[in-house]
Amino acid sequence: MSSNIVLILGAGPNIGAATAKYFTEKGYKTIVVSRNPSEEITKSADLAIKADFSNPSSIASIFASAKAKIGIPNVVIYNSYKGLINPDPFSFPLDEWIAGQNVNFISAYAAAQEAVAGFRHLAPSTLKTFAFTGNLQIHRAFPLLMHLGVSKNAAAHMMECGAMAYEKEGFRFYYVDERMEDGSAMKSALLGGQAHAEEFWKMATRPDQGPWEHTFVAGKGYVDFEGSTGKLPDLKALEEKAAAAKSSKMRAS
Ligand SMILES: NC(=O)c1ccc[n+]([C@@H]2O[C@H](COP(=O)([O-])OP(=O)(O)OC[C@H]3O[C@@H](n4cnc5c(N)ncnc54)[C@H](OP(=O)(O)O)[C@@H]3O)[C@@H](O)[C@H]2O)c1
Repeated sequence: MSSNIVLILGAGPNIGAATAKYFTEKGYKTIVVSRNPSEEITKSADLAIKADFSNPSSIASIFASAKAKIGIPNVVIYNSYKGLINPDPFSFPLDEWIAGQNVNFISAYAAAQEAVAGFRHLAPSTLKTFAFTGNLQIHRAFPLLMHLGVSKNAAAHMMECGAMAYEKEGFRFYYVDERMEDGSAMKSALLGGQAHAEEFWKMATRPDQGPWEHTFVAGKGYVDFEGSTGKLPDLKALEEKAAAAKSSKMRAS
């Protein structure tokens, strides 16, 4: 069975919307998933599904519904995340830690599992790609962002293993990390939806496995920063946000 179908898990107004639009223009059918898909993305996609990845068992039914209504996706993108900020990184209530890791990583594992099972039903000539949106925390630790960093490291390891384990079957895996020109962390406000869409397209259409850690700069494409992470990001605003959240929690309790 051949397929030109992209499934975007965690499709919001930035990367999800831009990627769905880009792949549609290239002749793909698009399936978008989030807890509350916007009207705009619902209208532009071939199928919009509501799901909450804090429950990883939601993933199997998404793939089943995608297959029944549109077909088996040959491109799967995991873009959802829960960004918890905590300067006291070992103080997370366990249920909060687990629910966040489910969104950030366990559901991505479930998605990779379903993606591989689906890829095996597609024609050998169909290109098959799984991509995970990451950041540079696989090269630098920030205690304030430890929750997210743990899951990005786990996902990067999973993408590296996927690229190795399934190379012979032709399934491609990527950990995708947009950087600033100098290799430093991408500023969230500047994160490029369109730039990601263009990189995903390159990954989806190249027949071989490229570097599993796909660091890129908007307008330039893949850049090997050789482990360098440029200058430190200014985390002051995040620190203040965390302190304010902590004091309002303390006032509430
Ligand atoms: N390269 C870098 O340095 C860098 C910098 C910043 C971010 N990032 C990465 O970029 C990705 C996100 O970027 P973006 O701009 O596209 O974010 P975004 O616009 O916020 O899209 C993410 C979507 O995920 C959905 N989502 C969140 N929690 C969910 C859940 N529990 N279940 C299902 N869907 C959920 C949200 O929709 P609903 O609310 O409707 O569920 C949201 O719209 C993340 O992986 C993030 O770590 C990378």
